[in-house]
Amino acid sequence: MKNKLTIPDLHEMTKRGEKIALLTAYDYPTAVFEDKAGIDIILVGDSLAMTVLGYDSTIPVTTDEMLIFTKAVTRGVKRAFVVADMPFLTYKTDVNSAIRNAGRFIQEGNADAVKLEGAGIVVPKVKAIVDAGIPVMGHIGLTPQSIGVLGGYKVQGTKKESALKLIDDAKKLEEAGVFSIIAESIPCELTPFIKDRVSIPVYGIGAGAEADGQILVVHDILGLFHGFIPRFVKKYADLGKTLEDTFNRYINDVKNSTFPDDTQTYHMDKKELHTLKEYLKDKTN
Ligand code: KIV
Repeated sequence: MKNKLTIPDLHEMTKRGEKIALLTAYDYPTAVFEDKAGIDIILVGDSLAMTVLGYDSTIPVTTDEMLIFTKAVTRGVKRAFVVADMPFLTYKTDVNSAIRNAGRFIQEGNADAVKLEGAGIVVPKVKAIVDAGIPVMGHIGLTPQSIGVLGGYKVQGTKKESALKLIDDAKKLEEAGVFSIIAESIPCELTPFIKDRVSIPVYGIGAGAEADGQILVVHDILGLFHGFIPRFVKKYADLGKTLEDTFNRYINDVKNSTFPDDTQTYHMDKKELHTLKEYLKDKTN
């Protein structure tokens, strides 16, 4: 069994120039296969609200729901470092509930860390959660839980002022104690400026090739999501098509009585069958 990755391992990999491969996972089999393939960090993202639960944003998913998926993922993982997303409004109102809610992902979900979106009022909560002994990953740029304020899934930091704000957010999150930051949907030119100003790894999703690692939503790379697919996604498979074709073949087999065939059928011992038939000849039985 390969050793479980730790934060020092991940930092060491970045120091020696190795890119970190991250993916989301929400269920046991996906976690098992990602882990076997050698993924470094698995994020149980609140994107599951859209990819798995069919909501049209990440807002509706709750901590109780996230915990079911987090537990399934951590049961399947031997090596990868597992981060769980804290859902909408579970860490923004006050420090105590932020610590308690974060603690549930570690204690009940068996995650290695939590991820919080944004900076500003989130920074003191990050510090308190880290002080309570829970590792935190930051998330800046396009933060989907604030989609109402951001006005849609738009690229962030495209102008000098907003770019400087993102650099400042990254610095403040580092000061608060995050062990890494995800930068989502920002111009690739901005990523090196952020990296140069913090000493923790900056992983990208739509942040260009210079990030210390890349994360994508697993349903997007597998071709399993039918909603909006951003420019930064690379589709590695079309499992949606494979699933539909497979379901079609099954339906046809059932309709045409070509499933089950003899190889999928149980048989009764001939002698037992004969005895049964003799017995049932008498209609009163
Ligand atoms: O919820 C999620 O999947 C995420 C990634 C897009 C970074 O936050």
